[in-house]
Amino acid sequence: MSGRIVVLVSGTGSNMMALARACEAGEVPARVEAVVGDRACEGLSLAARAGIATEVCAPRDYTDRTQWSAALRERVALYRPDLVVSAGFMRILGHGFVDAFYGRLVNLHPSLLPSFPGAHAVRDALAAGVKVTGTTVHLVDRGVDHGPILFQEPVRVRAGDTEASLHERIKGVEHVLLVQACRSLLEAGQTGA
Ligand code: GRF
Repeated sequence: MSGRIVVLVSGTGSNMMALARACEAGEVPARVEAVVGDRACEGLSLAARAGIATEVCAPRDYTDRTQWSAALRERVALYRPDLVVSAGFMRILGHGFVDAFYGRLVNLHPSLLPSFPGAHAVRDALAAGVKVTGTTVHLVDRGVDHGPILFQEPVRVRAGDTEASLHERIKGVEHVLLVQACRSLLEAGQTGA
C-alpha cells in the first residue's frame, strides 16, 4: 500500500519536511504528493527543493473566502489524497473543504487541545503558567482547532522558557508525533488508503 498525502503549510514547513523524509525513508507507507500553501513561504521552497509538487492558493486571488476554499478543495482533490495534513496552515478551512475531506483531514496543533486553541497556543500556554503543554493531532471538523483528538504528546515547560524556545521543543516532539500519526492512520486504513 502506498498512500497519497497532501500537506498544507503557511510557514517554515519543518513538520512537512519531517513527514516527507519519513515517507522517503519508508517509515510511512505513503508519499507526499504535494504541498499547498496560502502564500509563498519557506515550507513551499523546501518542498520544491525536495522535488515535491507545490502550489500557492492565496485568499487574495479570490473574491471571498468561500471561493478561495472551493478552489483550495479542487486543487487538493486533484492529488487524490488519502490524507490531508494541515501542518502550520494559518487559515481557517471552509466548511466545504472540511466536509470534502472529513475523516482524512488532520491538523497539528501546538498545545494539548482542548486547551489553548487558536493562533497563539504556545504564547497562551506560557501566559497561563501551565507546567505542561504539548501537541495534538486531531481530525478536523467544522470548529476551529476542533475535532476528534487522535494523538497527543506532552512537553514540559521549563523555567525561563520563551515562546520561541518552548515552540522549538514542541516542534521537536511534533516531528516524531506527526510521522507516527500518519503511519498509524494509513496502516489502520482509516483514511481509505
Ligand atoms: C507547528 O507547531 C504546528 O503545530 C502549528 O504550526 C507549527 C508549524 O511549524 N500549527 P512548521 O511550519 O511545521 O515548522
